[in-house]
Amino acid sequence: MKYAIVTGVSKGLGESIAKLFMDLNIHVIGLSRSVNKQLENHGDLFTHISCDLANVDTLDSVCDEISDIIFSEETTTIYLVNNAATVEPIDQSMHIKTADLTKHVKLNTIAPMAITNYFLQKTTEKGLQLISVAITSGAAEKPSYGWSAYCSTKASLNMYIKTAALEQEELATGHKVIAFSPGIMDTDMQEKIRSSSEDAFADVEQFKGFKDQNLLKDTDLVGGVVVDILMDDDVENGKIYHVRNYI
Ligand SMILES: NC(=O)c1ccc[n+]([C@@H]2O[C@H](COP(=O)([O-])OP(=O)(O)OC[C@H]3O[C@@H](n4cnc5c(N)ncnc54)[C@H](OP(=O)(O)O)[C@@H]3O)[C@@H](O)[C@H]2O)c1
Repeated sequence: MKYAIVTGVSKGLGESIAKLFMDLNIHVIGLSRSVNKQLENHGDLFTHISCDLANVDTLDSVCDEISDIIFSEETTTIYLVNNAATVEPIDQSMHIKTADLTKHVKLNTIAPMAITNYFLQKTTEKGLQLISVAITSGAAEKPSYGWSAYCSTKASLNMYIKTAALEQEELATGHKVIAFSPGIMDTDMQEKIRSSSEDAFADVEQFKGFKDQNLLKDTDLVGGVVVDILMDDDVENGKIYHVRNYI
C-alpha cells in the first residue's frame, strides 16, 4: 500500500496533485486549514487533517497523527509533497511587520523542513522509502521588488533540499528529496499577486498581463508532471526540477 502526504491540499496545485495520486489508487493524507468537499468524496482514499502549518508548535503532533494512519505491515512507499505556502506579505521590505514575516517563514520554510525531517527519520526507522518533493518557485533564484519574504523562503527551501539529499546519498538510505518549480499557474495565489499595489509589488502589471494573455498554467497539467517525476525510478536526489523542461 502506498501513501501520499500532501500539504496545501484544499485548492490549487495541492488539490490537483491529491486527485492525481488517488487516480493511481494511492491513499492521500491531505493537510490544510479548510476542507475541500470534492476530495472528501473519494472516500477511503482520502483523509483530511485540518491544521495551520504556520503553527509550528503543533507540527510534530500532526506528524504523529499521520504516522498512526500510514505505517502498517502493508505499507511499501511514502510520498511527501510539501506544497502549502504563501506569497504574502507582499511589500517593500521596510514596511513588513515582524509578526507577518515570522508567520510567513514558519509556513514556507520551517514547516516543510520539519515535516521532511520527521518523515526521513520515521521511514528510516520503519525500513521504508520516502520520496519527497518541496514545491519551490523561480522566485528562489531571482529577486523581485516586493517579494523579499517569498524569494528568501523559497531560496532557503532549495538549499535545505540540496543539503538533506546530500545527507541521504552519503547515508545510502535510498530516500529521495527533490524540489519542483511549477512556473506560473492559475490559482488563488496569482489572484493575490494581481491585487497588489504597484508600490508594494513593482511587477504587478506584468502579472496582470500573464492572466490576460492566458499564460497561467492549469494545475492539473503541472500536477501531472510532479506525480510523473515522483513515480520515476530514476528521480535524482537533490535536484531542483523545473516545469519548463516538461511542458
Ligand atoms: N501559483 C503560482 O503561480 C505559483 C508559482 C510558483 C510557485 N508556486 C508554489 O506552488 C505551491 C502551490 O501554490 P498555489 O498557487 O496552488 O497556492 P494557493 O492556491 O494559494 O493554495 C495554497 C494552499 O496552501 C494551503 N495553506 C496556506 N496557508 C496554510 C497554512 N497556514 N496552513 C495550512 N495550509 C495552508 C491552502 O489551504 P488553506 O487556505 O485551506 O489552509 C491551500 O490549500 C506553493 O508552494 C507556491 O509557492 C505557485
